[in-house]
Amino acid sequence: KFFKEDEVSQECRDITSSLPTETAWIVNNFYQYQGFWLGSRHLQALLRYQKHFQPQDSDILLVTMPKSGTTWLKAITFALVNRLRYVDHPQQHPLLNNNPHDLVPFIELKLYIDNQHPDITTFSSPRLFATHLPFVLLPTSVKDSATKIVYLCRNPKDTFVSLWHFSNKLRPAEKGTNSLEETFDKFCKGVCMYGPLWDHVLGYWKASLETPDKVIFLKYEEMKEQPTFHLRRLAEFLDCPFSEEEESNGLVDYISKLCSFDNLRNLEVNKSGILSTGVKTEVFFRRGEIGDWMNHLTADMVERIDQITEQKLHGSGLKF
Ligand code: A3P
Repeated sequence: KFFKEDEVSQECRDITSSLPTETAWIVNNFYQYQGFWLGSRHLQALLRYQKHFQPQDSDILLVTMPKSGTTWLKAITFALVNRLRYVDHPQQHPLLNNNPHDLVPFIELKLYIDNQHPDITTFSSPRLFATHLPFVLLPTSVKDSATKIVYLCRNPKDTFVSLWHFSNKLRPAEKGTNSLEETFDKFCKGVCMYGPLWDHVLGYWKASLETPDKVIFLKYEEMKEQPTFHLRRLAEFLDCPFSEEEESNGLVDYISKLCSFDNLRNLEVNKSGILSTGVKTEVFFRRGEIGDWMNHLTADMVERIDQITEQKLHGSGLKF
């Protein structure tokens, strides 16, 4: 269901018919729309989002390239902004029984994928949304509002390895697996969901430099190394800093542990659950480590991707 390509509107078909296209990693095709590779249903959802979505100033939008730690970011932000609700009864915390993707919906992969006007009236404030869309494609209304944007990126080599595994898990069995070599070549050419990765990252990096109060830029590796430091940073950015009392009650540590890879992965809901989109929750938890690329990429591959990263990020001040 998640990747179904049928029932795309005529408007959308008119657009895709003149766009460059490539075979996608899972099923169907990617279309290159304003520099980024999207599936046709995601493009349709994007158009609906741009046309109909009405932001509220307290909204929070979580943004990532796929496999950069989206699930983790959803868990952390949900736990952070809702901390007062569950502080006295932590055993009732929604993260214990719900996968983070069911608590923070994707704009274009869930809300607008089957719906022109999804019902978001029941969302409590601050509303939390997620997207993989590049900065350039966000609705102007969202950019102009006081919506806070939280961007999380991950080094391109680990993102690629994670995406390669993920795509093979989601590919229908009859299609066989994607080879590492062929998929790597596509990734380097920017042909992957929402790619090119470098352009995606740079869009938000620049926005975070230009408007630091609106866009915060986080790195997966730094969050792994210093989770509580970045949790505090995020809380300040979202205008809900931890109070002295919360600090002394160990709330920062509590949220960090609640959302850790080992804790989330071992919850029943994340071992045997199925998302409302039909995807098994276990596919979002693999190794959760830094540097797994070393177990997969050859020296030539590393040289190639590092060179692209260096060229693309040159002069931006951003480093992986
Ligand atoms: P690996 O495939 O390298 O293990 P996304 O959530 O964007 O789909 O990204 C999935 C990647 O994040 C996977 O990486 C997954 O294991 C890792 N991940 C999931 N939950 C995590 C957590 N709580 N902390 C750190 N990494 C996590």
